Amino acid sequence: MKPHQAFITQFTIVVALVAPVHGDGEPVCLLSDTQTKNSISAFATLAPIFYDPRCFNCHGGVNPFHSTPKHPVVTKDFGFDSPKQFEQCQECHGNFPKWQLPLPSDFFVGMNVTQLCEHMKQSFGSDFGADDFVNHMRDDNGGIPAPFIDVAYEGTMGLNETGQELYEGPFPAPPPSMPRNIMLQNSQNWVKEMGGKFQKPTECGCMDMEYALRVKVAAVYHVPAPFINSVFNFAKPDTPEADLPVIPIHFKEGGSVTGVATVNLAGNARVQTPPIPLFGEDICNVTGSAVVPATVDGQWPQPGASGSSSEGQNIHIHLTLNKLSAQASVECTKGAGSSSSGSSGSYSFDFSLQPMVGATQTVPFNLPLPGFEGSVQVTLIRTM
Ligand code: HEC
Ligand code: HEC
Repeated sequence: MKPHQAFITQFTIVVALVAPVHGDGEPVCLLSDTQTKNSISAFATLAPIFYDPRCFNCHGGVNPFHSTPKHPVVTKDFGFDSPKQFEQCQECHGNFPKWQLPLPSDFFVGMNVTQLCEHMKQSFGSDFGADDFVNHMRDDNGGIPAPFIDVAYEGTMGLNETGQELYEGPFPAPPPSMPRNIMLQNSQNWVKEMGGKFQKPTECGCMDMEYALRVKVAAVYHVPAPFINSVFNFAKPDTPEADLPVIPIHFKEGGSVTGVATVNLAGNARVQTPPIPLFGEDICNVTGSAVVPATVDGQWPQPGASGSSSEGQNIHIHLTLNKLSAQASVECTKGAGSSSSGSSGSYSFDFSLQPMVGATQTVPFNLPLPGFEGSVQVTLIRTM
């Protein structure tokens, strides 16, 4: 065996998966894959109420301040802050003393289902938002500032005699297509699917969100005698982040985390052999590669699971690099060869990460070799 073939060590880790990354510093959506799927479908079941004319028209669908075929008169625009703005409505909507439009920021017009979902989460906030939302959908939180949901379900639009004379069609206008008890039930279901709470960030429970671990293995191996000047750098320190391997992770029901990926390691090193009698010293370039099955398991703080609060809890990650084995080809000034090394076993690493995009931790990577010093770093990233 040529001495240099015994060393197939240097890897620069090469991309397994290039993933777009966003949301650094943003909280991780603490919903299981199943909860996310169920929340999205629960909101989709509720969403038609927001597009029902009895709700939608007040929320931007009808603009009485501009000429519109949907409204019999164009009223004066005194500005939202002026008491006159909605007093003038009483001429026709006088059976509902607080007939008024919401602020344009609460207009449903122009929003798709996902945007409406995010809007609801944003406008009620995360702390008691889910309860406030359900109370609003039940009866405007007891009719404050006015029982808009009641009037929508009555289908009267608050129209008095003057108003009704101008109105064509069946009166009261058919109230929302979704029965009120079903609407409330659908509102509660959506909240229930999200673990009883409006989770951060805004998109959580409204759309698919995917997370992954970016893995960086770095090590230096000072190869002991008889080799000289033989330093292997595992993973070049300057490897761009986008080129590091990524292991997609999934949050499962019951609080477990899973992830499987094949991590592709490759790279090269320069090795200098000692002078060999009649041969002289040799300089070799080692090109190595390894396909390493990587697995992730661990725990994530599932909200509402086993009655415990998930606030402030970390995501625990157990990363295993399996059968760390490699193949290499060696090209020396005086000859070439190739070799593959045997399996050197599995290595596991434990991490505790804050549930934040960008959370990162580095732990030592110690092979039982004198002169070997390494570390493994994982970073939580959002890939969708
Ligand atoms: C007469 C006009 C009017 C009607 C009809 C009406 N709303 Fe509203 N709505 C408002 C006003 C004004 C506000 C802002 C004041 C408040 O928060 O109660 C509001 C606020 C809201 C909010 C909280 C703010 C936001 O956009 O997130 C929701 C949710 C809502 N309405 C849902 C509905 C639903 C569902 C219906 C139909 C069943 C409906 N509204 C019918 C006027 C109306
Ligand atoms: C001269 C009478 C009159 C005045 C004044 C008036 N409206 Fe109306 N409004 C109506 C009538 C009639 C309808 C029903 C239109 C239809 O659907 O054909 C209506 C419908 C609406 C609707 C749609 C409600 C629904 O459930 O579809 C909104 C929103 C609305 N008006 C807002 C206002 C606001 C805000 C003002 C005051 C700034 C106002 N209106 C002033 C007569 C009036």
